[in-house]
Amino acid sequence: MRRLMAANWKMYKTSEEAAATIEHLSKLLGGSAPAGSEILVFAPFTALEAAAAAMRSLQGGYIGAQNMYPAENGAFTGEISPDMIRAAGASWVLVGHSERRHLLGENDEFIGNKLRFALEKGLDVMLCVGETLQERENGEVSAVLERQLSRALTEVPETAIAHLAVAYEPVWAIGTGRSAGPEDIMKAHTLAANLLEKHFGRVREVPLLYGGSVKPENAATILALDNVDGVLVGGASLQAESFTKIVTA
Ligand code: PGA
Repeated sequence: MRRLMAANWKMYKTSEEAAATIEHLSKLLGGSAPAGSEILVFAPFTALEAAAAAMRSLQGGYIGAQNMYPAENGAFTGEISPDMIRAAGASWVLVGHSERRHLLGENDEFIGNKLRFALEKGLDVMLCVGETLQERENGEVSAVLERQLSRALTEVPETAIAHLAVAYEPVWAIGTGRSAGPEDIMKAHTLAANLLEKHFGRVREVPLLYGGSVKPENAATILALDNVDGVLVGGASLQAESFTKIVTA
């Protein structure tokens, strides 16, 4: 399984700042991602083109968008289509990030529509799933993961496997400085792995990432866990130095 080391820059960085950070990252890594790893940077829409141009200096590095709208084109003010994302030089898109679910009100059905449409249009998709603190305290982790995954993957064919990754991001661990512990991560990843295996009828081939307060200090421990094929990093990915420490952990 290839290892995916992903940066989610959220609403940070102008195009100039994005390009500078990627150039710095490339320099620190000697121009290529570590063997067996791919580096993904999910940049803001306005920085996609500059980030993609800068990413040419980093072998094994790819650019993704943080969102898209599931239509070819049309009267959708403020939205961006998969074709626009690809034309800007990005090949990935994040779907179902908890900030979009909880702050922007996206539901499982809409997330499923996005996922299918993005795949159809040739983008690679990183689907984010994860429970809130309340859901965890109610003992609903497995029900939440099952619901989010099965609704998002409805009618997603086996051929999508090569273009899909899943990030387990417990909502209570995102941006809080409090990462999930190894046991919780392993449990959730085993659940997700089983659900993916059941859905596709194949032994697990979809990379499973953990996200939520990943830092240089905890990255190695998390990456060493069974069923963890990479990390999705917010805050600690904004500086090239700290993201490099995570990528090489
Ligand atoms: P964080 O964000 O690393 O800042 O917790 C992770 C994410 O939202 O993907």
